[in-house]
Amino acid sequence: MQDCVISGTGLWVPPDRITNAELVASLTVAVERWNEAHKAEIESGTLEERDLPNERFIVKASGVENRYVVEKTGVLDPERLRPHLPTRSEDEPSIQCEISVAAIHEALDQAGREPEDVDAVLVACSNLQRPYPAVAIEVQHALGASGWAYDLNVACSSATFGIQAAVDAVARGNARCAVVVNPELTSGHNNFELRDYHFIFGDACTAIVIEPADGCRNEAAWDVIDTRLVTKFSNNIRNDFGFLNRSEDDAREAHELVFRQNGRRVFREVCPMVAELITKQLGDLGLAPSEIRRMWLHQANLAMNQLIAKTVLGRPAEQDEAPVILDEFANTSSAGSVIAFHRHRDDLASGDLGVLCSFGAGYSIGSVVLKHR
Ligand code: COA
Repeated sequence: MQDCVISGTGLWVPPDRITNAELVASLTVAVERWNEAHKAEIESGTLEERDLPNERFIVKASGVENRYVVEKTGVLDPERLRPHLPTRSEDEPSIQCEISVAAIHEALDQAGREPEDVDAVLVACSNLQRPYPAVAIEVQHALGASGWAYDLNVACSSATFGIQAAVDAVARGNARCAVVVNPELTSGHNNFELRDYHFIFGDACTAIVIEPADGCRNEAAWDVIDTRLVTKFSNNIRNDFGFLNRSEDDAREAHELVFRQNGRRVFREVCPMVAELITKQLGDLGLAPSEIRRMWLHQANLAMNQLIAKTVLGRPAEQDEAPVILDEFANTSSAGSVIAFHRHRDDLASGDLGVLCSFGAGYSIGSVVLKHR
């Protein structure tokens, strides 16, 4: 078995940025129009009035101040509330392929590798634009990579589940240079119609290069010390969008099919599970929490991350111990913890230890212990 490293990471940031103020302004108009259009049903009690959004609530409840999206005019149009994406012909790269390739190029540059070195591509994300052909196989083709490729979806934990799959493949010699890429176009699946959900997500794409430690060309690579995964079924975060929708006898509304959650319950149930997994993993590795220099946590909610870090460390974490990117990016699903790792690791020294950890729908949790070379 080979020891493995993460030798490079890349990040694609979408062209458009939306502040909370812009988002609240557009939803306020949309909600007022909706309530007016449904006045009779609301008065007769067959429909509930929709509540107006609130900028202060968003920052206080989540820590999100901003997000990037692939296309903002459609999202901010009160009559549309979803991005405009031109239909592409089959001869053009799909949008997820395009953003994946952009993030992968940066990651390969860091690793000192060429696209032809890649022989495994895992597209790991919550929001895949089609079932087949696998986006990963299209990415493999666009890169000019050899080997094999497949898509996987474990919601917000897709990146860490992808890392474990890639590490297993490289360690066993089934790949020499694997790329895990997380093209999260959450704006296509987010519910911008309801105030409970409209602020939560943002788009981004991250990429990670995994290869054998032996022969790694990047002196600043990170040794993969251990990977751990856990899943436990829950309906508290769901997305029911799929090919069976069109055959259902009781057709559901669009907002019943895209992302929805019971945020309070997720918060209460997932935080202890995450802290327990990390604590047990460190214990099994003979590491004290005090030896962990940094935690790159999934970026869904600021208070959630503060609670998890505090439970693991036994004291409140300094900002630099659990860096935050959700204020700028919002929840980018599986890309979030990888953005934190991509942006916040250059200051660490050789021998420093860190934990890259994601959590989300399923429930699913993945934790990767890393050591700076
Ligand atoms: N503006 C103003 N008020 C709002 C609001 C908004 N946008 N959204 C909800 N509210 C109101 C609710 O109606 C509720 O009012 P009530 O107390 O009168 O019933 C109150 O604010 C609290 O709502 P709640 O949904 O319980 O808020 P919260 O404090 O739990 O925060 C989340 C909501 C989603 C930010 C938070 O629960 C969260 O982030 N949880 C973790 C979710 C997560 O990590 N999911 C993973 C996704 S991959």
